[in-house]
Amino acid sequence: MKAWRASILTFPSPGQAALESDGLLVVGPDAQGRQVVQAVGAWQALAARFADVQVEHLPGHIIAPGFVDMHIHYPQLDVIGSPAEGLLPWLENYTFPQEKRFSAHDHSAQTATFFIAELLRHGVTTALTFATSHPESVNALFAEAQQRQLRLITGKCLMDQNAPDGVRDNTEQSLIDTESLIRRWHGVDRLGYAITPRFVPSCSQAQLRGAGELAATYADVWIQSHVAENKDEIAWVHRLYPQARSYLSVYDQFGLLRPRAVYAHCIHIDDEDRALMRDTGTAAAVSPTSNLFLGSGFFDYAAADRSGFLYGLASDVGGGTSFSPFHTMLAAYYVGREGQTKAGVSLKPQQLWWQHTGGAARALGLEGVIGNLLPGCEADFVVLNPQATPLLARKTAQAGSLDELLFALIVLGDDRVIAKAVISQAEFASGP
Ligand code: GUN
Ligand code: ZN
Repeated sequence: MKAWRASILTFPSPGQAALESDGLLVVGPDAQGRQVVQAVGAWQALAARFADVQVEHLPGHIIAPGFVDMHIHYPQLDVIGSPAEGLLPWLENYTFPQEKRFSAHDHSAQTATFFIAELLRHGVTTALTFATSHPESVNALFAEAQQRQLRLITGKCLMDQNAPDGVRDNTEQSLIDTESLIRRWHGVDRLGYAITPRFVPSCSQAQLRGAGELAATYADVWIQSHVAENKDEIAWVHRLYPQARSYLSVYDQFGLLRPRAVYAHCIHIDDEDRALMRDTGTAAAVSPTSNLFLGSGFFDYAAADRSGFLYGLASDVGGGTSFSPFHTMLAAYYVGREGQTKAGVSLKPQQLWWQHTGGAARALGLEGVIGNLLPGCEADFVVLNPQATPLLARKTAQAGSLDELLFALIVLGDDRVIAKAVISQAEFASGP
């Protein structure tokens, strides 16, 4: 066992944070050998009970749950910041050419190593990430995550139509590959598989049907895709499926809406779609930096909360502009303010933080496993330095409440705030 003494941030209930100013976090193996939180609370109350446990004292720092990124593309590391009129030309001109490079093992392996280091440097300890259509890109990322003992979910991108040579796959082979990757990787150590149809325009009906069948056979694997991000994309889906009630309903038709199904964006949806998401247990990965960068639109928080479907935050790198959960939370705040309707909302700092930790974990079906630091949770955490920059030190010193402290970090924070990330007791320093 090992313990850390610092301020400790937890979520005793959904969306509600608590800060123990002088806390102790005790970590040790559970019956399965996973490193989990054994105890958490005030240092004074716990010190005697754990007197023989080695303690690392980090005065002035905050220990917080590792961030959970619900939607990111590891092959789009080099796509960040590519200017385009909108989603479809961005895919055509920047994304597909970069993704082609992942047919080469070395490129996949090198990018996987860089990508995971970058996640940890930014305090992201779990990610649901797209790979490319090349099975090798999936193997490379899983292998790297396994070596780091990271909890990571990914899958081979399915795209057998409306995509160029070099990334387009073959219907039958793509489903065979998906099933062998599920068998090879899903549930191994901390790894999980996600069946990954890219989006409706890039998948034939046969491919979507096959994906739905696999999703029924392997009920605890994830599903990830995109929906209702961009108006041109939606018009395209309407031409492909003129009878469908909505874009989202096409996925439903193929059995692709269920718990552990995660759809990025969900911007241009209506209340019937929202009810469908809620009733099927489908989650949205809200990706505000991407939506602002690509000019896609604004996620409607007020309507989402009225309906009650699951959602959490995501970077969507490389449509998204940053790995930093602080940048994503700030963008979410701006989007909430603006609102899709005129009635913008003012998202609270604790809610924003929850949407990128415990709330994202819940949306992934991993509540009580990650995204929090209550007893029994896997001990993936970040050590935050609220004095990482002169301005942050000045601002956080004046914080009169937990909301003010969290908001200072959200607005002024970036990777410099992450002193280190700790997963399974292994420490990853956040230096350059
Ligand atoms: N829709 C289909 N593919 C993609 C992608 O790679 N990024 C985004 N943002 N939307 C998509
Ligand atoms: Zn995406």
